[in-house]
Amino acid sequence: MASAWQRNAFVLATLLIGLASAQRQDQEDPCKTKSKVVSDVTYCDRYWECINNQPELYDCPNGLVFAGKHRGVTEGCDYPWRSNYCEGKQLANGPISTEHCDWLYGIFGHETSCTRYWTCWNGTATEQLCIGGLLYNENAHSCDWPENVDGCQKHPLCNEDANGNVPLGKSCNRYWQCQGGYPRLQRCPAMLVFDRRSLRCVVPPTEDCDVPTTPLPIEYEPEQPQGKGNSNPNAIHQSSGTGGQQGGKLQSGGRNKN
Ligand SMILES: *[C@@H]1O[C@H](CO)[C@@H](O)[C@H](O)[C@H]1NC(C)=O
Repeated sequence: MASAWQRNAFVLATLLIGLASAQRQDQEDPCKTKSKVVSDVTYCDRYWECINNQPELYDCPNGLVFAGKHRGVTEGCDYPWRSNYCEGKQLANGPISTEHCDWLYGIFGHETSCTRYWTCWNGTATEQLCIGGLLYNENAHSCDWPENVDGCQKHPLCNEDANGNVPLGKSCNRYWQCQGGYPRLQRCPAMLVFDRRSLRCVVPPTEDCDVPTTPLPIEYEPEQPQGKGNSNPNAIHQSSGTGGQQGGKLQSGGRNKN
């Protein structure tokens, strides 16, 4: 009968052998798994699929990495920054770039604007706009509070007075409220209009704004604080309505500075 010490030594040896083989990291055979799809052991942008009982190697769409069957944004592949997919692995493929897209698939910063960014799908870029005073955060790959966005913290809009109000185009009831250099889209309380002289909400009429007679006064496109090109007319319609703090949506990591 084996002593307790011998039994323990055997268990320990078995554990060590198990660890050593786990570290060797053999490629898993997709034909021996239920899902028939497994990640490549070396490259995070590759995966193996069991086709006619044979393992076949596939590349993720350019810019994406393998996340798992039925996961990610397409073909089981995802944006690399969504998780630690590439921890301890390498990329097999380099970037294929098109205009505005560093890789064929991904979300990329704008060349000339902090309020815009590009989403790329198979090399086709679509321009996106951050609303409500938010800026594009390259680390989070989403719109974020200005104070979280390195290099784009302050809007030129608030250069003149970091805590002042700024007219929004020719709007009679919306305006930008600068808070420490960060613009927030605001709306005057009902029945009041924004006075471009005093930079406050006042009882109409003013020089530019009559007493509202129609339920929807004509709105003009706001001038973008930064960047060139066409303004998105949706920007003013998507914004907060009732003098609230923010109209913007945060995809992730949103923190209110107040
Ligand atoms: C991607 O675009 C190329 C041509 O630019 C096309 O041949 C290919 O079929 C497209 N792939 C997908 C998945 O849409």
